[in-house]
Amino acid sequence: MAGATMGTRTKQPDGNKEENDRLDLYHHIQTLSLDGELHLAPIGDNPQRILDVGTGTGIWAIDMGDKYPSAEILGNDISPIQPNLVPPNVKFEVDDLEEEWVYSTKFDYIHVRYLACSIRDWPKLMRQCFKFLKPDFDTRFYTKGGEFTKDTKLSQWADKVADGLRKFGAEPDPGPQIEGWVTEAGFQSIEARTFPFPVGTWPKDKKLKEIGAFNLVQFLDNLEALTMRIYQNAWGWRPEEVKVLCAELRKELKNPKMLLQHNYYVVWGQKPLNAVD
Ligand SMILES: C[S@@+](CC[C@H](N)C(=O)[O-])C[C@H]1O[C@@H](n2cnc3c(N)ncnc32)[C@H](O)[C@@H]1O
Repeated sequence: MAGATMGTRTKQPDGNKEENDRLDLYHHIQTLSLDGELHLAPIGDNPQRILDVGTGTGIWAIDMGDKYPSAEILGNDISPIQPNLVPPNVKFEVDDLEEEWVYSTKFDYIHVRYLACSIRDWPKLMRQCFKFLKPDFDTRFYTKGGEFTKDTKLSQWADKVADGLRKFGAEPDPGPQIEGWVTEAGFQSIEARTFPFPVGTWPKDKKLKEIGAFNLVQFLDNLEALTMRIYQNAWGWRPEEVKVLCAELRKELKNPKMLLQHNYYVVWGQKPLNAVD
């Protein structure tokens, strides 16, 4: 993977501020779900080299830099949207993670998070990773006893979004497949956990209610931009048609009787030290 190292960058981050705020909010949701932990993989107290693949705003890498001053954290992303002021042990590179990786030294821990819809060749990504790995992703809506059904606009929307992404070669639903890919890539000591992510404040449980509240906000924030991109490009919808659909989807997302949720997958494992990849 050829990387243009930026280190503590002097260039102002570009990109969409609202989308960056949403990514940071999603980071908060995910750490809430893990009871404040940044990872579940057992990396010890003194990891040395950590790679955050597709780092986004770099928020996880920055938090890891604060947590592990001993470690050198490298975050890469195809978009240079990371902030300028970061801990001295955190660096960012602009890089395409689907290219061949050419790192000269190995990492103690490679973190892959929330890249659903971004990656074309997941098995290849798993093969390129070595030692610890922890990808985690959300997928499809479901309910336990709520009003959400296959006939809702949301269900039809989720299918159309997934099919639209597949049309362009992206995998919209990696979560349930991660464990299989990781196994095929030769990882050992694999552990996998699934966490329910509610949408909305309907859960009685305090922690899930909080996750649901933030999750609803991030869905509402992302809905129109995501739908516009996929429905226009994959299905030829006009912007005004997308806006009408989004108004209906917003109503369903906010309906507490739907008892809407989706899953978040966390998988980690370790490649043998003599692995060739
Ligand atoms: C939904 S964001 C997740 C960011 C981060 N992993 C997190 O959990 O907050 C997906 C990120 O993947 C990046 N991305 C997509 N395709 C990529 C590629 N081929 N190489 C590197 N980064 C990529 C995007 O630019 C975006 O920042």
